[in-house]
Amino acid sequence: MSTAADRLDHWIRTRFADLNTELEQRYFAAHTEILLGDPEIDRVKHTIVTQGAALIAELDPVTSYDLLGLVGFYLGACRRHEVGSPAELTPAYAVANRIGLALGVAPRYVFAHQSLYNLAGREGYRTFTTLPDERIFIEYNGLAVLAYQRAATALRRIPTLGVGNPLAGYLLEDARTALLDVLRFNQSLAKELDVDRFFLNIRPYFKSYRVNGIEYRGANAGDFAAVNEIDLLLGLCRQEDPFYQRVLSEKAPYLPPEDQPPLRAAMTTEPLLTAFLRESAEPMPPQLRANAELFLEVCRAHAAAYAFHHHRLVKPFLEVPAQHAPPSRQEDLTASGPPLSVVIESLARLADLRAARDRPGLTTARAALDQLRDRCA
Ligand code: HEM
Repeated sequence: MSTAADRLDHWIRTRFADLNTELEQRYFAAHTEILLGDPEIDRVKHTIVTQGAALIAELDPVTSYDLLGLVGFYLGACRRHEVGSPAELTPAYAVANRIGLALGVAPRYVFAHQSLYNLAGREGYRTFTTLPDERIFIEYNGLAVLAYQRAATALRRIPTLGVGNPLAGYLLEDARTALLDVLRFNQSLAKELDVDRFFLNIRPYFKSYRVNGIEYRGANAGDFAAVNEIDLLLGLCRQEDPFYQRVLSEKAPYLPPEDQPPLRAAMTTEPLLTAFLRESAEPMPPQLRANAELFLEVCRAHAAAYAFHHHRLVKPFLEVPAQHAPPSRQEDLTASGPPLSVVIESLARLADLRAARDRPGLTTARAALDQLRDRCA
């Protein structure tokens, strides 16, 4: 016998996706992010609100991360179409808040719900729409997340081996190829994703939304611990840096629950760059030198993948189309809530830290990396 959660899941995978797709096709035909005040379109929007509310009202008080995602899909779509009064959405808010509090996470759906916690059997995985562009976006983002996780898994095993260990060489090579995969998936995404479809029909589902009157910022593929574990373990970002501390504490509630312990562990582990510099103070034995050279390549691969994110994804898919958005939509452009220029500035700083690119007002790991490179020469 199916449960109320199964029925909600089935609806999300079928009727909900069809209704969203119908709306997206109407918006796209009008080349706009949203159409307001059209009675026919408003009827479709309202069908989403009422059908979802009826299914959510039947839910048993189960605490599961997956269920938070299901209810979040519904709330994300209501936000995207700008429908649903607080009274209509209160039962959904109550479920989301209860699960969020029980699991210690933000009470909204995050990218983990769309990628790694999204069961696919015969029916495939859950999406907001049936548009191929959404699948392109989700799949390449998800693949890049998996590749970041592979790199983080390899790097976090090195501290107990030591940087001169031949086994550490194997793990560094694994991290390097995983980060090259991140770059490759990002490149495929940039090639295959249509800018207008992304901007008008996909991005709006990732916006901030309110739960019980509190605003929770939008979803993005960065809401996993892996990328930060890589930053910290390599030694490119420092947990004592107030800017980076803000990045970590802002992100914490948006991580899936099992990502919290490895991130905490990375904060208390000696960075590999520090360990390499300590061990390489005397003339370097061949294994240590080989590992140090590989380590420098891992750093370069991390920098390249993230520079691509900044210059070939964020700018062309968000910053450029945003310049043509009507003034009334300007303040609603990012996933996080702050103005787009502030978000881009913060991403640029992360890109410079990961690339170890010093600039006025920003001292990075550049000098330490150059010192290690000189010792390898
Ligand atoms: C069209 C594609 C993409 C666009 C437009 C995009 C845009 C953005 C934006 C605007 C943010 C900041 C979120 C906010 O605060 O509003 C962000 C964060 C982030 N994105 Fe993407 N992104 C894209 C694809 C990807 C992919 C494929 C990955 C790989 C996993 C990725 C990884 C990240 C990470 C790690 C962050 C968190 C900030 C950081 O630690 O650097 N993004 N992205």
